[in-house]
Amino acid sequence: MKEAPLKAAVLGHPIAHSLSPRLHGYWLKHYGIDGSYTAIDVAPDHLENWIKAMPELGYKGCNVTIPHKEKVAELMDELSPVANYLGVVNTVIVREDGSLYGDNTDAYGFEHNIRSHVAGGDEALQQLLSHTLILGAGGASRAVIVALESMGASRITITNRTKDKAEKCAAIYNIETMPWNELQLQDVTCVINTTSLGMKGQPSLELDIDALPEGALVTDIVYNPLITKLLRQARARDLKTITGIGMLLHQAVPGFEAWFGQRPQVTSALETHVLAGLE
Ligand code: ATR
Repeated sequence: MKEAPLKAAVLGHPIAHSLSPRLHGYWLKHYGIDGSYTAIDVAPDHLENWIKAMPELGYKGCNVTIPHKEKVAELMDELSPVANYLGVVNTVIVREDGSLYGDNTDAYGFEHNIRSHVAGGDEALQQLLSHTLILGAGGASRAVIVALESMGASRITITNRTKDKAEKCAAIYNIETMPWNELQLQDVTCVINTTSLGMKGQPSLELDIDALPEGALVTDIVYNPLITKLLRQARARDLKTITGIGMLLHQAVPGFEAWFGQRPQVTSALETHVLAGLE
């Protein structure tokens, strides 16, 4: 008997602009898998019903995005250590017995994006991360901190428009803070923008990076536009830059593997395909 096609989805509200169907659709075709990955617009009031119905509806799991990532964590039977730590789920796996396992792959995605762009192994990485400055103290920022710790970053400083949030984060993760309006960049080796500044439709990030030392790394988790003003400024100074699209591509790997049984590769062809879907 022919097996039923494998099904997965992304749940969000709104969801029309999600690049995830394009990303997973590419891999499904590339690996010749009989499966589907669809975008489902789920209003907050219907989230619990949708999540609980996933096993019955034949889904292997789903991604969850804004505004559901925190609520979904409360609906899981079990959380991965990192999802539990962050209190945020972006990947749901329906297990053989129908129970729901929640994971957070954002830290994984950030780490693998950085690793894939830095030659020279852990030593080079640790040199680049010897003093990292994180801009922003929201959910994305906390995933980035987890990733930086996993990569062995020795000194991490956080700055945020709303000072209280930076201080709260700094206390949880035992890192330093810097005032948003008085950034000292002279000994910073890596700058990471985790705010929404620079994203299409948002104001750009106004940061004078002249004081950053030669050889510093500048990265942005914003990927629409791909080259933000921050990255443009860094390139004009010949600093190393890493765009945000790789984090999106890499965070999708563990979910795809769990749902469709194939560990997918992140390639430049995939990146080109996904970027063509940006509006
Ligand atoms: P995410 O989960 O994607 O990180 P979030 O939790 O809403 O989203 O966090 C958004 C981040 O962007 C915050 O650090 C926010 O700063 P505040 O805590 O001060 O709100 C930052 N941000 C958004 N708009 C900003 C702006 N106009 N100027 C400076 N920071 C901004």
